[in-house]
Parts: sequence; structure tokens; C-alpha cells
Amino acid sequence: MRTKQILAGMFLAAGLSVVHGQQLDITGTCDVPDSPEWVHHAVFYQIYPQTYYDSNGDGIGDLNGIIQKLDYIKSLGVTAIWLNPFFDSPFNDAGYDIRDYYKVAPRYGTNEDAKRLFQEAHKRGLKVIFDYVISYTAIDNPWFVESCKQSPDKYSNWYVWNDNVWKTEGGEFAGRFIHGYGRRNGNFMFNFFWSEPALNFGFGKPDPAKPWQLPVNHPDVLALREELKKIFCFWMDMGADGIRADMAGALVKGTDVSGGTKDFWKEIRQIVKEKYPQAFMVSEWSYPKDALDAFHADFFHWFDGYNDLMQKESWRILNGVSEGHSFFDKEGKGNIAYFLSKYMEQYNETKSKGYIVLPLGNHDNARMNVNRSTDELELIMVFGMTMPGVPFLYYGNEIGMRQLYNMPQIEGAYQPRAGARTPMQWTSGKNCGFSTADFSRLYLPVDTASDAPNVEAEQNDPSSLLNRVKKLIALKNTEPALAAYAKFVPLYAKENTYPFVYARASGKDILLVIINPSEKAASAEFQMNLQYTKPTLLAGKEIKINKKGTTLSFNVPGISFAIYRMN
Ligand code: NOJ
Repeated sequence: MRTKQILAGMFLAAGLSVVHGQQLDITGTCDVPDSPEWVHHAVFYQIYPQTYYDSNGDGIGDLNGIIQKLDYIKSLGVTAIWLNPFFDSPFNDAGYDIRDYYKVAPRYGTNEDAKRLFQEAHKRGLKVIFDYVISYTAIDNPWFVESCKQSPDKYSNWYVWNDNVWKTEGGEFAGRFIHGYGRRNGNFMFNFFWSEPALNFGFGKPDPAKPWQLPVNHPDVLALREELKKIFCFWMDMGADGIRADMAGALVKGTDVSGGTKDFWKEIRQIVKEKYPQAFMVSEWSYPKDALDAFHADFFHWFDGYNDLMQKESWRILNGVSEGHSFFDKEGKGNIAYFLSKYMEQYNETKSKGYIVLPLGNHDNARMNVNRSTDELELIMVFGMTMPGVPFLYYGNEIGMRQLYNMPQIEGAYQPRAGARTPMQWTSGKNCGFSTADFSRLYLPVDTASDAPNVEAEQNDPSSLLNRVKKLIALKNTEPALAAYAKFVPLYAKENTYPFVYARASGKDILLVIINPSEKAASAEFQMNLQYTKPTLLAGKEIKINKKGTTLSFNVPGISFAIYRMN
């Protein structure tokens, strides 16, 4: 249901040298996208099961371990958990390569453990979404094993095969086929690693000269889609609260892909509407304009603007995207205007449809703590918790776990992934309290630094990152102007300049957010026509705001922030 919020009697006009020079204001109505009610103020916590908590001492985290840590997770103030894949797998891609969609990987436990995890989370008021990875399977998934056979059967067309083992495909499919695997006469297409054969959602515009390119409505394609829906319902019926859809934009092949791909997701959304109206769907698409036609939210992080926010140079290059400087580096050479130009292009077109997620770290990117102090890390958290949409916080970033170097490159964890996937640091004891196993048996080494951050120490330190993050999450949970849908108005965001200043607004509630990651003091002056008496500081350090008519100006110390309530 779409509701309208009336911003009665309020007027705020922005001094907009900022984004595209267009005039933004927060008067009028503000659309609330169609989404379960609980999502609007939600914060998600991402858990990588293999490195969260090892309850049986075998060196690998497990579902039981997560259950044992639910009280800690609840204490953060988060609303929901996103669990990375926990399914049976040969683990060539850390479990994204699924062998059996209906079974928990023995190293993580059993289906009963998954059910208990959902139940125990619900008892604490926490939701749990699972990773729905359906653009490909593992190489040893029995469907694929069948599909490789010479004689045709039910599974032959469930994967994308061309029809001659000596044929090389060109154009957009160049390099996408594996030759000489299996007994059948053909080559299979893969989606990420070569050992991840692409499931067959058909081709948007099949080439008549290539009869192996099936249309999206081919009966075998439709049969596969039905099976994938069954899998979705299987985990939802067990108690899951939704999905994070891996590589969601990569289903239908060839031209016209986005429409055909969206159609599948719209069918899933329809199932959600009918059977699981409280469920939440978030995609790894990184193109909200497409994704939000079907999903409630989309991760928007595979673009250079995101990397320019918080990734250090070396990681940006390894991720194959932009070069330059991060806005959140204290050297002060970042360019928030560039990020914002990309962001606003998506935000303006999608804000009434769904939510953009700017993740606070994840298992594919370097950790936020690449040589950053607690104060610097806090600024990234302030940004993450006060921007529109739904924040996703990667485990360990709440305590400032560091990116680690020279890690073994296991299970597809090439740089910088492995260094961001190391075990959670619970205490200063053996293996940082992650596992009782011998150090050599750990899935990945724990941080061995004598000052490695840990939960126990930070819980007892009022000025720790952990306690600061909790405070920010509490604001996100409760401030009306921090609702995912609340309006976002950039006020001061100039090319290669600090600070970054913006307003969030919902009804009569208006917040002003000021962030200066540079180590140098900075100043800002902009237009803001708003009647207020005395701004109330909700978090950060007091900043003296001068007001002359509609002009606001202030100086901001280096590495500092402030969140003010302006009503
Ligand atoms: C995105 C996942 O986040 C990543 O870890 C995985 O390797 C690729 N998709 C392929 O599934």
C-alpha cells in the first residue's frame, strides 16, 4: 500500500550548487514505497556463517553458533539478519555454489538447526533473510550432473548449452562457455566462476540461427522456474523472512534481459504478496532503476561512486572500478559530488518504488577499517545510518575489525575478500573467542594483533565504536526523519570539497546531518528557509550554526559530525 505523508506548513529550500544544479525541496508529499512496515526503520546485520561463531570446535562457524550469539545481535538494536549461503556446497565459491538447495551444509549443521535459528531469532523480535542464489548452481549439483549426460532428460535444458563442443560463441557470450566438460555434445555457459554453470532462464531474443537459445517461455525453462519457486517457499515455510537475491540481474540471457529477468522476480514478489506479506526482498543488482520494479530494495555498490566513498585506492583497483580518493579518508581529497551525482540519478527515479541499500561493508569488499581510527569509522557509520534506505551492517564492522592482509585465498576469496572474511573477534582470548580449535584449523586466521578490537572490551568502553554504533542504530530505529522513505535533501556537497551536509525530513520532523571526514576544519554556507528555534544535537559535537535570513553557515572541525533535530 502506498501512503502519502503531508509535510504540512514546512518549507526548506536547498542552496543547490550541489547535485545537478536542480532545485530540490522537501515541501509537499513524500511517497512511502510498498514494503512491509517493519522495514521502514530497519537495520540489517550481515553474518558470514563460516566465521561468526564456532560452537563445536571444528574451526568453522555454524548455525548453532549464530543462535548462541542472538542476544548479542539483539543488543545492537538491529532488526534483521542477512545470512550468507548455508546450503550444501562443494565450496568453490564459499557456498554461493549450491549443490543441494534443500539441505543445510553439514559443516554449518542441519535443517533442524536452521529452523531453530529462525524460531530463536523470532523469539527475540529479529527477522532472518537467506541468500537466494539461483542464477547458477554448483558444478556437482545433481541437476547439472544430469544435464551433462548424452541422452536428453528432464534436466538437459535446465542449463545453457550450445550444440557443438567445437563451436565457440562470440559477441556478448565470448569467453562465457566451458568446452569439453561432460559427455554431451556442447559447451555450457557459466555465470561467475567457471564451476558455476548458468541456470537456463531463456534468452530475451533468441537467435533463430541458434536453436539452443531457448525462449523465456520454453516449457523446460518454465519447469526450472517452478522448481526455483518451490525452493523459495521451502525456506520461507521453514521460517525465513525474505531473501537477498544473488546476481539478481543475471538471469535471462541476451538482449532484452532486464525485462525478462524482472518478470521472474515479479512472480516471486507476487508469491510474497499472496503468501508471505511480511517478507522482504533485496537484490544484488546494483541498478535500482531496474531492480525496484520487483524488489523492495537493491544493493547499490557495484559502481565507482560507492568505491569512492570508503574504499582505499588499492581495493578500488582490485575491484576493477574507479581510481581516485575516498571521501571518508582524512587526507580530504575525496569528491562527494561524484558519488552523489550517481546516487541521485537512481534515487530520484526510484524513491517511490523501493529502497537503495548502501552497505556498510560486505564479504566481497575490503573492510571499512583500513587504517582508520574509531572517530573516522564512526563517520562512515553516521553516513550509513542517516542516508535514505535500509542500512546493512557487515559483522565485525561494528567493532572496527581490520582488513587483514596476506590471507590464504580459499573458496574463491581472492583479494580483498579473504581479508574481510576473517573470524569475528569476541574476546581477547584464544582465537579471539571465535573457536576452541587449534589456530591451524581455523577457516581463516583470526587477527593476531595484540590490540585486535573485540566485543567484550568494547562493550565495557562507553567511547568504543560498538557503543557509538548502537547509539546511531537506536536513532535510525526511532527518529521519524530517519525512516527509510524520509526525504533526502543534499544541502552542501561540492566538487572536491568538505563537509557533506544534508537534511532528512518526514512530516514535521527534520534532521540536519553534517559530516566532515577530512582532518582539516571545513566550512559551509547554504540556503535553508526553515523556521526553527534552537536545533537539538542528537549525536556528534556541537557546531555553532549562524543564521542570517535564509542563509546558514558554520565551521566544522576536522574528523567530526553532528546530527541536529531542526524542529
Ligand atoms: C556475489 C556474491 O556476493 C559473491 O560472494 C559471489 O562470489 C558472487 N556473487 C557469485 O555468486
